Amino acid sequence: MHQDRGRAESFGSAAEAYDAFRSGYPDALIDDLLAARPSNTLDVGCGTGKVAAAIAARGFRVVGVEPDQRMAAVARARGVEVDVVSFEDWDSRGEMFDLVTCGHAWQWIDPLIGGSKAASLLRPGGVIALFWNYHVLDEDLLAEVRVAYETYAPDLSVVGQDPSGLDDADPFGAVSSLSPGETRTYRWVREFDARDWPGMLSTFSDHQRLGEERLTALQQAVRRIIDRHGGQIAARGGTYVWSARKLSA
Ligand SMILES: C[S@@+](CC[C@H](N)C(=O)[O-])C[C@H]1O[C@@H](n2cnc3c(N)ncnc32)[C@H](O)[C@@H]1O
Repeated sequence: MHQDRGRAESFGSAAEAYDAFRSGYPDALIDDLLAARPSNTLDVGCGTGKVAAAIAARGFRVVGVEPDQRMAAVARARGVEVDVVSFEDWDSRGEMFDLVTCGHAWQWIDPLIGGSKAASLLRPGGVIALFWNYHVLDEDLLAEVRVAYETYAPDLSVVGQDPSGLDDADPFGAVSSLSPGETRTYRWVREFDARDWPGMLSTFSDHQRLGEERLTALQQAVRRIIDRHGGQIAARGGTYVWSARKLSA
């Protein structure tokens, strides 16, 4: 996916909406990542700072790397230190890290560079964690949402369906200085109203690509469905994590 730069670089066009509507990450994940008390963390593709701000709020040093100026501006407004550059081109100026995090961004980074570069920036014993959220709607609601997608966005995969298609290939498999990857899922349930869920849809790069007219039509159709379901829906979701440890030389 990283070669689709149009999608990879689309998030900043709606940076404020991204920050308002895109799901954040569970406290339990952030607490587990910080349990070893890393002296510093690198947050790759930090976007508007959802991960980095949660780390900084717990009193830990964190640096974000983010190529989109508009996303970085939101992160900086939250007090996050950000270098505005792609991860592939980023110069760490010799700094090494105990923890590297990457929420919903690893797919935009060149796989021939990302894993080995992250490993080279980790101290021995340091941890890299990549994570993604998914959302699952109840089947009766989902059946109605599917009809809306068939009408307005037949080429898109429906947000809210079962996530069994998540990639099971170890993203660190080719990097010999990292331990084999391990997976873990943090499950959660979140409530969305008729504004939140359509708002979240607009933060996904494949939905952005529909163009304003078709995206708005899809959002309106989904909004009507949520209204028919009482104006509030629950998504059973989760945060899916791949992590690995830097091996001693
Ligand atoms: C879906 S957003 C995730 C933002 C944030 N990590 C979060 O969890 O909310 C993906 C981010 O990856 C960034 N990105 C795209 N290509 C990148 C690259 N080559 N290096 C670093 N970040 C990149 C985008 O600009 C965008 O901010």
